[in-house]
Amino acid sequence: MTDTPARAQGRKTIRPSLSPRELMTDRPALARAWTAQILTLFPEAFPGTLGLSLTGRALQDGLWQLDTVALREFGDGRHRNVDDTPAGGGAGMVLRPDVMGRAIDHARARIDPRAPLIYLSPRGRRFDQQMAQHLAQTPGATLICGRFEGMDQRVIDHYRILEVSLGDFVLTGGELAAQMMLDATIRLLPGVLGNAASTEEESFSNGLLEHPQYTKPADWQGHAIPEVLLSGNHAAIARWRREQSEALTRARRPDLWQAHLDRSGG
Ligand SMILES: C[S@@+](CC[C@H](N)C(=O)[O-])C[C@H]1O[C@@H](n2cnc3c(N)ncnc32)[C@H](O)[C@@H]1O
Repeated sequence: MTDTPARAQGRKTIRPSLSPRELMTDRPALARAWTAQILTLFPEAFPGTLGLSLTGRALQDGLWQLDTVALREFGDGRHRNVDDTPAGGGAGMVLRPDVMGRAIDHARARIDPRAPLIYLSPRGRRFDQQMAQHLAQTPGATLICGRFEGMDQRVIDHYRILEVSLGDFVLTGGELAAQMMLDATIRLLPGVLGNAASTEEESFSNGLLEHPQYTKPADWQGHAIPEVLLSGNHAAIARWRREQSEALTRARRPDLWQAHLDRSGG
């Protein structure tokens, strides 16, 4: 590890030589950085893939920060129990409201109150690009990762927690779902992607799926790149891409296509 001089920009001093896990803070100190606060039984799952590539570099550069809250520390008794059997019987275990309440109070006291409080849950509102764009405008988010059969309903009601789902499937826990949400959001933060235009043109940004992409070689196993893309005619290329984008959306996602028609009065 190199001994790079520390950089201080009115925030926690960060040495670029630190690894993403070392950059995770006990107390968030990057006052202006977008904060991903995660309540989890498995803090070691973070930053996970978020520590790689563009999101990893952005974490090192202080464009966002990670604040994990280990649920086990708020557990009961010598064994730090966090769960109990479901009221009414049935299989599995449920995260206890007293434990979750202590963890949430602790977490919310150290994040900007405008950051939404979210519980990853298959019953929640479906996550999409629009939600990622909205989250990127906030100071951050508190994400609660469930385990077992999930969290006691009273906690969700008491704190008016927004439930968000990554799709119609059931994961073992909320950690992967949280990382997907964070990845989609963090790449929209200013300065995270080198070429900002790329987020404007990609799938969903304009309500349509993206056109196909090609690169060199011009001929691969007898398959040629569509001629128009090699023509240098920018207007024709833009027109071709738009047509492809519309045709793909119409064929694959009638729901998006209808919404697009409604918006454009078609
Ligand atoms: C095994 S699941 C609980 C499923 C719950 N008993 C149900 O049927 O709705 C455990 C945790 O994984 C997370 N999880 C599972 N599927 C998810 C999804 N599609 N989106 C977001 N989080 C999910 C939630 O945090 C959930 O509390």
